[in-house]
Amino acid sequence: MKRIIIAIDGFSSCGKSTMAKSLARNIGYLYFDSGAMYRAVALFCLNNNLVNSDGIDVNNLRSRMNEIKISFEADPITKNSITLLNGKDVEKDIRSLEVSRIVSQIAALDFVRADMIEQQRCMGKAKGIVMDGRDIGTTVFPDAEMKVFVTASAEVRAQRRYDEIIARGDKADYNEILENVQQRDHIDQTREVSPLRKADDALLLDNSHMTREEQEQWLLTLFKKITEEC
Ligand code: CDP
Repeated sequence: MKRIIIAIDGFSSCGKSTMAKSLARNIGYLYFDSGAMYRAVALFCLNNNLVNSDGIDVNNLRSRMNEIKISFEADPITKNSITLLNGKDVEKDIRSLEVSRIVSQIAALDFVRADMIEQQRCMGKAKGIVMDGRDIGTTVFPDAEMKVFVTASAEVRAQRRYDEIIARGDKADYNEILENVQQRDHIDQTREVSPLRKADDALLLDNSHMTREEQEQWLLTLFKKITEEC
């Protein structure tokens, strides 16, 4: 069967990575989390004093982009994908609220996007991948054979993020999370470079009232239909 590229884009916290991961596992494809790459750049900025009260030190970051190497590897036990920043496991650190607060400003910088997009295209060279993000179907892989655009209401998304943090045993404030979700939606949709938008040929998936199983079936059915047609 022909191997294809699957692009899953959409708003923050609507469960894209969960669905992309399970789809990749079910069909034997590799999964790539493009958001984790922007998060790793944000973490690099926090760790290297490139964030101050005025915001991101853009000129300094531009000159240090060549020091940022992002890769992924599979956890030997859980098989989940782990994000490495310069060879170090940063999977947990990149999910902090501190990183979430600045990541969308960093993802709006043209030189950061150019660098990440180049790396993402390399990851898709051999096909057989599922990649999730904001601009995968529009900019990174405009020719992807399967494109899905996921959405859900901001309140549903904030509640999911809240439940996820509580389940991890950490503290969370629902209103703070909702505010962060809405703020990132705004930045992602209004930025000049690669704004978040549904590709014309992407299928819309509103999962506000869908269970994980229903979602999984929806994606599998679509995948089978597309690969049969290829
Ligand atoms: O998991 P969540 O949806 O909250 O976000 P993420 O996928 O981890 O991505 C973090 C941030 O990176 C997003 O809020 C976007 O601002 C940015 N991003 C992007 O601009 N382009 C992508 N392809 C992926 C993420």
